[in-house]
Amino acid sequence: MKDILDELEARRAVARAGGGEKRVAAQHAKGKLTARERIELLLDEGSFEEFDMFVAHRCNDFGMDGERPPGDGVVTGWGTVNGRMVYVFAQDFTVFGGSVSETHGAKICKIMDMAIQNGAPVIGINDSGGARIQEGVGSLAAYGEVFQRNVLASGVVPQISLIMGPCAGGAVYSPAMTDFIFMVKDSSYMFVTGPDVVKTVTNEQVTAEELGGAGTHTKKSSVADGAYENDVEALAETRRLIDFLPLNNREKAPVRPFFDDPARVEMSLDSLVPDNPNQPYDMKELILKIADEGDFFELQKDFAANIITGFIRIEGQSVGVVANQPMVLAGCLDIDSSRKAARFVRFCDAFEIPLLTLVDVPGFLPGTGQEYGGVIKHGAKLLFAYAEATVPKVTVLTRKTYGGAYVVMSSKHLRGDFNYAWPTAEVAVMGAKGAVEILYRSELGEPEKIAQRVKDYEDRFANPFVAAEKGFIDEVIMPHSTRRRVARAFAALRTKKLANPWKKHDNIPL
Ligand code: HXC
Repeated sequence: MKDILDELEARRAVARAGGGEKRVAAQHAKGKLTARERIELLLDEGSFEEFDMFVAHRCNDFGMDGERPPGDGVVTGWGTVNGRMVYVFAQDFTVFGGSVSETHGAKICKIMDMAIQNGAPVIGINDSGGARIQEGVGSLAAYGEVFQRNVLASGVVPQISLIMGPCAGGAVYSPAMTDFIFMVKDSSYMFVTGPDVVKTVTNEQVTAEELGGAGTHTKKSSVADGAYENDVEALAETRRLIDFLPLNNREKAPVRPFFDDPARVEMSLDSLVPDNPNQPYDMKELILKIADEGDFFELQKDFAANIITGFIRIEGQSVGVVANQPMVLAGCLDIDSSRKAARFVRFCDAFEIPLLTLVDVPGFLPGTGQEYGGVIKHGAKLLFAYAEATVPKVTVLTRKTYGGAYVVMSSKHLRGDFNYAWPTAEVAVMGAKGAVEILYRSELGEPEKIAQRVKDYEDRFANPFVAAEKGFIDEVIMPHSTRRRVARAFAALRTKKLANPWKKHDNIPL
């Protein structure tokens, strides 16, 4: 019996050694952890249960029959994050460069199937040279099987991709279909075609980092939701994110202990909005002052910063926040901010996470760049996302909200549940100056008359009361009591039930 047990231990030791000491040392030399080290940091200590440790590839071409390392370049299994179940796969770059064979792909599919069946998130750690070149089409088939499962899992269980090395070619499309992508600075990249192909086809000279590094994807392309300094930070932040999310679309997000009075008053908010309507202020201050313990998990912070998206907790419950940021482009809506916020709103709605919308928006950004880029369709995404969302929706108007953007930003007309306004809010078709220039065009040569007209228009509309008179604003609230009012609103909505008409799926403008 002892021999049998020793044999198991010996086999396990071989599998755990991955591609061997030399390749592990090379991995470390690049500042990267190994697949197993990453899983250990991601999951609660001792919670990892491995699947398919002994699975080996079946390829006999190109000398592959002589080398069948157990595990085949990917470590898969399940474990817990702060006691809650997650499924995980981590590609092992030390074994065939983490490349995807038929069996490697089948291991990933197995845990994805279990995650969908049992209702727990999938976290994928990507570090791979792509399709296993020796296997040819078998490898492409394996990717196809993974892609299919990414789509079936979408909206059923949260899917998170960590890019911790190469991720190139068609392989990028698996992370692309997951809910969140996080990258590590300087040691990860994603692109459909690499620098060599780019050079050949377009004659552009670009490094892998410039083409698809963490900076590119968090600042320019918006493919990634966050960039971290190293593996350790990326894994720790992923644990933090998991704490905000439900395990699946039929469960509520966890309620965490909180030590922050829901009725906390913040007198400083009474002076957050400057007297000068053209002066910006930092909307993040309001988010932090509403959140339990000032804890905010921001997504896509370096992209379309005119809108802020992320998670907070109120009374221990997860809330998705969307907020215009007056500090950037005056907080206007444009193509990028609409896309960014629409995707976030849809994630929250799919996973029953209530939405808090903080509004100070001058309208949509004008210009040929925006119109030619299709702002009509992209702006419609956010409108569509809010309108279809059935989760609790609480909105606070802090300052201006004009035109179409007023309707888009979780207004009463899109089934907003609680729509509050600060006394400083203005709800209008447009700013007073623009309105007067259209209404009184014949008087434009008479500055005094025009000034009076502007004042008249402001007196009528530069306040929240016209909207409140019509019931479009439920209540005008004191800024200092925002946390209390918002907390009570969400508490009142815990039993909300709302369903859309049956359909196969909607046809959101893409
Ligand atoms: C088999 C691979 C491999 C692959 C790397 N290796 N990629 N083995 N198939 N795709 C092996 C190497 O032979 C090497 O083995 C080990 O992994 C480490 O690779 P190195 O090249 O030494 O590492 P490094 O210098 O860090 O370069 C990493 C790399 C490079 C940039 C990823 O390996 C590379 O260019 N690989 C090929 C990438 C590629 O063209 N993939 C196919 C893309 S098409 P030893 O034994 O020496 O350690 C694709 C389509 C997917 O992926 C489509 C989905 C629908």
